[in-house]
Amino acid sequence: MVDLVTRHREVADEAERNVQAVLRSGRWIGGPWVQRAESTAAEWFSRRWAVGVASGTDALMLALMAAGVRPGDEVIVPALSFFATAGAVVNVGAVPVVVDVGRDGLLDPQAAEAAVGPRTRGCVPVHLFGNRAAPLALGVPVVDDAAQAVGTVPSCSTGVLSAVSAYPTKTWGAAGDAGFVLGDDPELERVVRALANHGSTGSDLHQAMDGCVGRASRLDAVQAAVLMAHAPEVARRVQRRRELADRFDAALPASILPLPRQPGCSVHQYCVLAEDREALVRHLDAAGVGWAIYYGRPLSEQPALTSFPHRETPVARWMCERLLALPVRASLTEEEVERIVDVLRGIPT
Ligand SMILES: Cc1ncc(COP(=O)(O)O)c(C=O)c1O
Repeated sequence: MVDLVTRHREVADEAERNVQAVLRSGRWIGGPWVQRAESTAAEWFSRRWAVGVASGTDALMLALMAAGVRPGDEVIVPALSFFATAGAVVNVGAVPVVVDVGRDGLLDPQAAEAAVGPRTRGCVPVHLFGNRAAPLALGVPVVDDAAQAVGTVPSCSTGVLSAVSAYPTKTWGAAGDAGFVLGDDPELERVVRALANHGSTGSDLHQAMDGCVGRASRLDAVQAAVLMAHAPEVARRVQRRRELADRFDAALPASILPLPRQPGCSVHQYCVLAEDREALVRHLDAAGVGWAIYYGRPLSEQPALTSFPHRETPVARWMCERLLALPVRASLTEEEVERIVDVLRGIPT
């Protein structure tokens, strides 16, 4: 499913040269590489600014804080996502209100509307697997989770603020943790920069907390240098993933449906829905083809979240029982792709 060594090899000379330049410059916090990575992220998502931060999870937390979410507030999140979507809400002291998704896996706007109450102060739609979540008008700030949306066109960054992850397995992945908060409002940029830097926006960190208590969550200059080596490859990798997804679709038997992909989807994962997932897994294991389950249970059923007000999310549960992701990395060789296609054609019906 993942082969980061091969991916590094594609840009090794440049990445290693960039990292050496950072190390020799002594500018390890902030500096030109971070600025370049921020400009690239802002441009890809058609936003006025991006602030590089320590991870996608921190990007969500900082965006929620900057958007005004406070301890005890309720924040609506979709039931089908990585833990961090709800975890970030809990980590800012707020209450995740987990609502159901549609059969496309994306937050159901009607379920979100129905969940708005007097304590609702935010909503975090997720652009899952690179499909665009619908824009929302809930009367509360929307912070969209664009962790899986690098390469989606047109770019999807629909909230007042967006959070992007550059975790190593992401299409634009660092060699460690990294993330970005994106937005348009210059005042929010100032707040996010302060929150990510001990509450300080001045050039001298030791002078003044800028009216808020912040954290140490800056994008590492070494990671920014690695990201800039990968940046020119991202469009080609996304295009390759789209081509592979189309070929896999064509090889599937009628009993196995690909998860619908919107035009321009980044194919962050290639997922299918299988009524008999166990049988499909046995077939793939016997043929030596990798697979993964994203996600094994709805966020509403995560043990760490069951103390929060519970809602039934039957569509998310239905999907969690059937979804299976297949390898779609751009570094698959033609031989590996043909092998996967043959194995998919051979799925017993
Ligand atoms: C949908 C989603 N949200 C949030 C995150 C968290 O990002 P990170 O791992 O960079 O903290 C991830 C990925 O890891 C993700 O896929």
